[in-house]
Amino acid sequence: MYIVMVAPECAPAAHAGGLGDVVFGLSRELEVRGHAVEIILPRYDSLHMDQIWGWTLDYADLWVPWYNGAIHCSVWFGFLHGRKCFFIEPHSRDNFFNRGVIYGCPDDTMRFAFFSRAALEFMLKANKRPDIIHCHDWPTGLVPVLLFEIYKHGMPHQRVCFTIHNFKHQGIDGERVLWATGLGRPWHYVHDDRLRDNFNPAAINFTKGGIVYSNFVTTVSRGHAWEATHTDQGYGLGHTLHRHAHKIGGVRNGVDYDMWNPETDPMIPHRYNLESLERKYWNKDVLRDRLWLRKDFKPLIAYIGRLDSQKGVHLVRHALFYSLARGAQFVLLGPTSDPAIGQEFSRLKHELNDHPDCHLELRFDHELAHLVYAGADMVVLPSNFEPCGLVQMIALRYGTIPIVRAVGGLSETVFDRDFSTRPPEQRNGYVFHQSDRTGIESAMRRALGLWYDYPQEFRYLMLNGMRYDYSWNHPGQDYVNIYDHIRHK
Ligand code: GLC
Repeated sequence: MYIVMVAPECAPAAHAGGLGDVVFGLSRELEVRGHAVEIILPRYDSLHMDQIWGWTLDYADLWVPWYNGAIHCSVWFGFLHGRKCFFIEPHSRDNFFNRGVIYGCPDDTMRFAFFSRAALEFMLKANKRPDIIHCHDWPTGLVPVLLFEIYKHGMPHQRVCFTIHNFKHQGIDGERVLWATGLGRPWHYVHDDRLRDNFNPAAINFTKGGIVYSNFVTTVSRGHAWEATHTDQGYGLGHTLHRHAHKIGGVRNGVDYDMWNPETDPMIPHRYNLESLERKYWNKDVLRDRLWLRKDFKPLIAYIGRLDSQKGVHLVRHALFYSLARGAQFVLLGPTSDPAIGQEFSRLKHELNDHPDCHLELRFDHELAHLVYAGADMVVLPSNFEPCGLVQMIALRYGTIPIVRAVGGLSETVFDRDFSTRPPEQRNGYVFHQSDRTGIESAMRRALGLWYDYPQEFRYLMLNGMRYDYSWNHPGQDYVNIYDHIRHK
């Protein structure tokens, strides 16, 4: 099959979160299976050009219709660690992608509406006729709308799969988007059956458009498809999901095991596997040296990932203090985008700066992340909601015990050592339910107790986790099945 991914991110060149990892990992898996995959991205000024090889101009004069005129674009090509990527660069005073960031501008909806139109115009003009167009999250929600409303004559056979990574961000704007993209006709589109936001009758909702117009919609874990349809985790789109239930499914993300493999990882000093687990502790010492933590007989607990309200930051903070109170060490690694959360954690970092058992690194450091996965004994993930979550799956691969809240993808991948109904050899971590201190403490207490009192049992739990296969193998096949299913309809 020939698949074109249209996405706002692809790691490691344009990377803000898990979506970027998924676009890269899934594309690689599909190629390994013999499919042809191309990825269309904006040409951000913040692209990590050192990750891209063979940068060439692919299409010089692409004119993308916009309002009553058109914007002149260049399309660049480059290999991103082997993936074939096309980067759209508009030349206009809007400066859509020269903002130093991927998201977070007041005109984000217009930026990505333009990108969606440009991606289709590029496919049309460059004679790309993929079997499947796979779009990701609200920034590309208008792609299926534009395809079936405007491009269907030139591209009548293309089918669209739309993956929703996060319902919290949906892309809400007004009629102007319709006029800008050439859809026009607000009386047609600002309608409950199409793009009208379910709560603001004057607004259009990109994600809703993506759901209504795509041939298939996926969430990034099976449980989250249910949660989004039936609970407040759909952020107002539950009703829409319900109406389109026949084409909604959940596919759990995979982890790119070429990048995340303690046996071959070039970013950790001591490589290890199931048979040489003791070498993990050598990494722990390297990590402690690097972060100026003392080398005592203590477990090391980590939080890795964005510090966003989604992630249950109040409990991350509590986990830190609880760890210190219980004689454990704590390492935090992650960027903050929310100013209030940023301030809170900067203050905390300052306060704990000289603490011998604790380190806060408030930014994203890819290389350090590898060392933290390899060196930590446990990671905590107290998310309020988690469509899938990659951290717990990477941690398992590195023999690092996940302590997670039972939501979304977390409860589908982590099975409690004491309370899971699975057989003992399939249990791989600790799970708690309530989003409060008592909840997380109950799980952390059990994990720390096992580490101190039953080290051999703790080791078994680590090995159980390392044996899991959370690669792209199964989810890759699931996506191929979905593509096949919609292709033949
Ligand atoms: C979003 C979700 C996260 C998921 C990731 C990749 O960041 O919050 O749960 O793992 O997308 O799909």
